[in-house]
Formats: sequence, structure tokens, C-alpha cells
Amino acid sequence: MFVGEDKVDRSTEIALLKEVLALKSAGSFFLDGQQTRNNADAYASADRFAVERAALFRRVPAMAAHASELNGPDSFLRRDVAGLPMLLTRDGEGQAHAFLNVCRHRGTRLVDDAAGCRKRFTCPYHAWTWNNRGDLIAVPHEAQGFPDLDRQHFGLKRVACVERYGWLWVCTDAPEALDLDGFLDGLSTDMAWLDGASLRVAATLEEERASNWKFLIEAGLEAYHFQVAHRATIAPYFHDNLSTYQMFGDHIRSVLPRASLMEMAGQPEDRWRIRDHTNLLYTIFPMNQLLVQQDHMIWIHLEPLSAGRTRLALRTLVPADDDRHDHWQRNHAITQRTLTEDFVLGESIQAGIESGANDVLTFGRFEGALGRFNASVARFVGAGATSAGRS
Ligand code: FES
Ligand SMILES: [Fe+2]
Repeated sequence: MFVGEDKVDRSTEIALLKEVLALKSAGSFFLDGQQTRNNADAYASADRFAVERAALFRRVPAMAAHASELNGPDSFLRRDVAGLPMLLTRDGEGQAHAFLNVCRHRGTRLVDDAAGCRKRFTCPYHAWTWNNRGDLIAVPHEAQGFPDLDRQHFGLKRVACVERYGWLWVCTDAPEALDLDGFLDGLSTDMAWLDGASLRVAATLEEERASNWKFLIEAGLEAYHFQVAHRATIAPYFHDNLSTYQMFGDHIRSVLPRASLMEMAGQPEDRWRIRDHTNLLYTIFPMNQLLVQQDHMIWIHLEPLSAGRTRLALRTLVPADDDRHDHWQRNHAITQRTLTEDFVLGESIQAGIESGANDVLTFGRFEGALGRFNASVARFVGAGATSAGRS
């Protein structure tokens, strides 16, 4: 869609806006050819979850942290990624690294603090010590106790990591070099345009929800529910069931027009700006979403814990030089209130699915992005044809 670091591909931007304007004028919806469906098992089965973790979560690059969270030389962060304990570090030259947060002696968790600034990490059990490049640099009583120890083989277990577009991406099952742009599959130009590296985290919510991770993603993939589920919050700012989406491989860009869309109809096209009149929601497959608003964005990050449980983080990302603290706290509170409506529904659906009432979930023609998303998941896990099939 967008070409270059900061240059918007105007023709695509205008085409997307014309598409939603035309739908609105015609009183029509963005429709896929067919209804689709997904098996209830995909959300409730422990076996299915284990396969998702092994064949999907650990196989694709994950957004482990925003670059600003690893703030400056010798900073570190502790994160769980795809069920694995991870230590993210920035060395003295500013280079980012990812390791398993596990002592190479007998397996203790090396770092307990959530974040901080440290050049070396000492295990709390017997004090083996590594630098922030992962090299083993100290072993108490080494000469007598470990006369044959080859320190080279006891570096921290490294995880493939690249810092790009403002995030640290890690992949536990990737070879050393991580092909991020191959993974992004055409979304790289949009990621460059979003300029995540110029942002900072202004506010964070972290919590656990009794919901399968996919329900939390699906909540953003249609506007069918806006006027109903969000009637107390954002409903007046959006149109009923008006949205479009485009696929970039397994990733999805959803276009969610705001009520102000029709103001553009009387304006010259050169004044049309997509971020002024729509929310864009990027689903970066499988479990990250970027909700792009006029002057900031919200990063929705999921860490699936089990079939029925997910840890989630909402981070409001704002321009790094914008220090309107109260403004962004208020903004974050509104986002949190709205998205909590979705998360509570996710828990409601989880309980409903686990009751066995429904064998399948049925997605209407204007819920097509849900079918596509689940088809992508099914492809990774090798699920049968009935999963994410036509109804
Ligand atoms: S387990 Fe870490 S130093 Fe022994
Ligand atoms: Fe919602």
C-alpha cells in the first residue's frame, strides 16, 4: 500500500477510502463469496493447542517487545514468548539479543526482574555469570569443579532475533537469520509507513483472560458487532457493519471507517487521509494486532497459555517526543474500556464453546476475515478440511 519510508502510496489510500465510501453510499456491506465456519474443537481442545504452540507459535516471528521498551545500551527485558522464558538484552553497542532465560548449569531461571539495566547476569543458584551478549564469563571454583568445561559451549541459548520497524521480533524455531520481510509477505511497506521506531509506550495493561487466543483476535476482524457489543462506548463513532479487509499472506489489514468518513465526500481527494477517517487494524499473524488511530496506535499482544487461557497486553504507542502524560493516560483508559468489552465476550464465548452447545462457529459473508484467519491457522496445524471450511 505504502511506498518508501514515509511516503504514502496515495493511489492505494484513495482506493481504500473510495471503496468504503461506495459501500456506505450503496448501503451495502463488504461481502465474501461464501459463509465459512470453524470447528469448536479449534478453541477448546488441549491437543489442538499443543499443536498450535509447536507448529505455529514457535515457527513464525513473534513481536516480543517494542524497541523503546529495551531502552538504551545494557538494558534488558524478561518476556514469555510462545510458552518459553525469554531474556531480551541490548548490549553496549545497542545491538539487541534474545536468549532463553535459563541457566546453562542446571537450568535455574537466570533473571527474575521484569526489566532493568545490567551488563552481566548472575544465576541465583551457584553464580555462573554471563554478559549481555550471552557469553559465559564466570564460574565459581571452575578449575577444581569443572576442569573440562568449555565455556564456548555454555553460552546462553540464543534465539533468532531482529529489530525492525520498531519492534524486536524473535523466533524460537528459526535458523539464526530470521527472514522477517519474507514472513511479512508484502506488509513491510505498511510497517515502514507506520514508523513504529518513532513511538514509545505511554501506557500498558497486562492481564489474563479465560479465553482462547483466537477469540481475542477474531474480535477485531469484523465490524458486525460494533453497534451491539460496543453500544455503550464506540458505537456512535462508527458505521453499522462497515469495514473491508485485505490479505497479505496470512496477515490482515482491516479498514474500519469512522463516522467522519462522509465528511470526505465533499472534500477534494488531495485532502483525504486514511488515518483521519478510519481505524486500521493490522493483524500480524498469528497473535499480534496493531490498532492504528489518527495520531497513535495500540499494540495488542497475546501470549496464549492454554486452550482456554490467554495473557494479553495492550500498549498505547505514541510519538516519542509527545509528553502529554494525562492525555495519553485518558486515551489508554478509553481503549482499555472498549477492548475489555471484547475480552469479556471472549470469555463468554469460551464458556459457551466448552459447554458443547455448538459443534461449529458460523461466520457470515461480512465476517470473511475470520474464515481467512482460521484457514491460515489450520494450514499451520494441519487441521482437517472441516476446520475453517465452508458452511
Ligand atoms: S543452576 Fe545456575 S549456576 Fe547452578
Ligand atoms: Fe470489538
